[in-house]
Amino acid sequence: MTPRKHGLARGLTNYGDPDFAIYLRKSFAKSMGYSSEMLDRPIVGIAYTPSGFNNCHRNFPEMLEAVKRGVLAAGALPLEFPTISLGEVFLSPTSLKFRNLMAMDTEEMIRAQPMDAVVLMGGCDKTVPAQLMGAVSADLPAIQLVAGPMMTGRHGPERLGACTDCRRFWAQFRAGTVSAEEIERIEGKLATTTGTCAVMGTATTMACIAETLGMMLPGTAAIPAVHADRLRAAEATGIAAARLIEAPIRPSQIVTRASVGNALRVLLAIGGSTNAIIHLTAIAGRAGIEVPLDWLNELSDTTPVLVDLKPTGSYYAEDFFAAGAMGAVLRELSPLLDHDCLTVTGETLGDRLARDPGWHDPAIIRPAASPVSDKGGLVALFGSLAPRGAILKRSAADASLFETTARAVVFSSLEDLAARIDDPDLDVSPGDILVLQNAGPKSASGMPEAGYLPIPKKLAAQGVKDMIRISDARMSGTAFGTIVLHVAPEAAEGGPLALVRTGDLIEMSVARNRLELLVSEEDLAARRREWEAARPAAAARRGYDRLYAEEVLQADQGCDFATFRATGMTDR
Ligand code: FES
Ligand code: MG
Repeated sequence: MTPRKHGLARGLTNYGDPDFAIYLRKSFAKSMGYSSEMLDRPIVGIAYTPSGFNNCHRNFPEMLEAVKRGVLAAGALPLEFPTISLGEVFLSPTSLKFRNLMAMDTEEMIRAQPMDAVVLMGGCDKTVPAQLMGAVSADLPAIQLVAGPMMTGRHGPERLGACTDCRRFWAQFRAGTVSAEEIERIEGKLATTTGTCAVMGTATTMACIAETLGMMLPGTAAIPAVHADRLRAAEATGIAAARLIEAPIRPSQIVTRASVGNALRVLLAIGGSTNAIIHLTAIAGRAGIEVPLDWLNELSDTTPVLVDLKPTGSYYAEDFFAAGAMGAVLRELSPLLDHDCLTVTGETLGDRLARDPGWHDPAIIRPAASPVSDKGGLVALFGSLAPRGAILKRSAADASLFETTARAVVFSSLEDLAARIDDPDLDVSPGDILVLQNAGPKSASGMPEAGYLPIPKKLAAQGVKDMIRISDARMSGTAFGTIVLHVAPEAAEGGPLALVRTGDLIEMSVARNRLELLVSEEDLAARRREWEAARPAAAARRGYDRLYAEEVLQADQGCDFATFRATGMTDR
C-alpha cells in the first residue's frame, strides 16, 4: 500500500513506515464514522468561523451544510475545521489587532492539516482579509465564501441599517431630539437579521474586493445573508472547491499586480471603506505585491464613484444586490480593468464580462457616463505631517473643507480626548482642525476606529456638523465626515504627528494631495529632541500584545506583521 499524495495522505510524517502512518490516520478518521470509500476521496477543508461572539456569522451552520452538499456531490470529502472568529463589535481594544492572529491561524491550519483545497467561510469585517492573507501565504487552492449582508429593519416609516443609522440616531439622542425610550426601541431594530452590516461598510467592501480579485464565485459578494441564493452560492462554492483539486489554481495565480489593480479600482468605484486599503495592502503583501499610496491616487483620479450606498449615499446592501451588484460594477468599469486576470472558476475576468447579462438599476449603480462623482472615493495625502501618507475618504467628506489652512487643537491620546472633548472650557472654534495622537498600530490601543472624533459638545450644540479631524487611527466603514486617517508614520513611532501642538497651523489641500504641518524646521527639531527625551521606556508588554507591537507594520504597509509578508519585500 503506497499512500497517495492527496486526501488524508497529504503531508504525512511517516518516520520510515508510510503504510503505518496512513493506517493510523485512517483508523482515527474512522472513529468519526467515515467509510473507507469516503476517506479515499480528496479533501476540501472548510475554515469555519461561527462564534457566540459573532452575530454576523449566525447563518453559518446552514451555509456549512450547503457547502458540504456541494463538495460531496462533486466527489470530494468536506471536513470543516475551526479557526478563531472576529466579531467586530465584541473585540477589545480593537478587532484589527486580531486580524493578523486569525491570518496566522488560518494559514497554519491550512498547511498543517491534510486537505487538497479550502473553502474560507468569513464575512464580518476583519475575517475576510484575515482568511485571504492566510490563504495567499499557504497557497493551497482556496475559495472565499461570505456570510452576506443583513437586511434592513424598519422604525416607523424609516429604513434602518447597521450601522450608519446607529450613528445618526445616537447623535439625535445626544442632542435630545430622540428620547431614551425611543433609542431603546431603535436598538432592537438596527440589526434584525444574521449577516454583515447592511451598508457599504468594511464587510461589504471586502466581499466586493474578494470577488474582484477572483477569489470568490462571480455574483456572490452581495447576496443577502437570508436569501436562498446565499445557500445556492454556498453549494456552488463547495462544488467549485472540489473542482479546484482536479485543476488546481492557486491564490498566487489569482492575487497578482493586475488583479490588485482591479480591486483598487473597485474599492474606489464603490466608495468603499477606508479600512479596505489597509486590508488589500496586507493581502497583496502576502503575494509580494507592494501597494504604494501614490498608486491609489493615480487610480483615484481616473475612477468614478458608481455606487450610491450608505454611508456616503442613499441605499443599502440589499438594494445593491437587487440592482445588479458586482456584475454591474465590473461591467461599468470594464474599460479600466485588466481582463486577463484568472479567477477561482478558471475563467478570466474577461470571460465573465463576456457572458454578463447586461442589466442593472442605474439609480443605485450609476452608469460610468453619469457617476456619483468622477473621482474615486479615497485619496491619499502626503506632506510634512504625513511623510508616508494619510487617507481621506473624500466621498464621505465635506468638499467645502478640502482646501483649508487652520489651527490645530491637539489631543495626545484617547484618554486625553475622552477627558476634554466635551469640556465647556475647551479652547476650540468651528474652523479648527482636531488632531488625535497615539492611536496608531503600535499604540496601546492598536489603531482603533477612533478617527471619527466627536464634534466637541459645545460646537455640536451650535449646530457644527463636520470639522477636519486628523489622526493615526482608523474609522468605521459605516461612518462619514472630513476625516484624515492612517497618518504614517504614527505618533508612537515618532512620526511628525507626535510633534503637533495646539495652535500650530495645518494645511490640507485635497486638490494637491497635501497635508502640511506649518512649523519651522528648527521648532520641529527642538520638539523632536524633547519628544525623544520624554519618550517612555517601552512598556512591559508580553505575549501577543508584545509580538504585535514589535512586528506590526505601519498603515501604508497594511499593518501586517513584518515577518509574514512575502520574502524579499522591503520593510521601511
Ligand atoms: Fe460584522 Fe459589521 S459587525 S460586519
Ligand atoms: Mg465596521
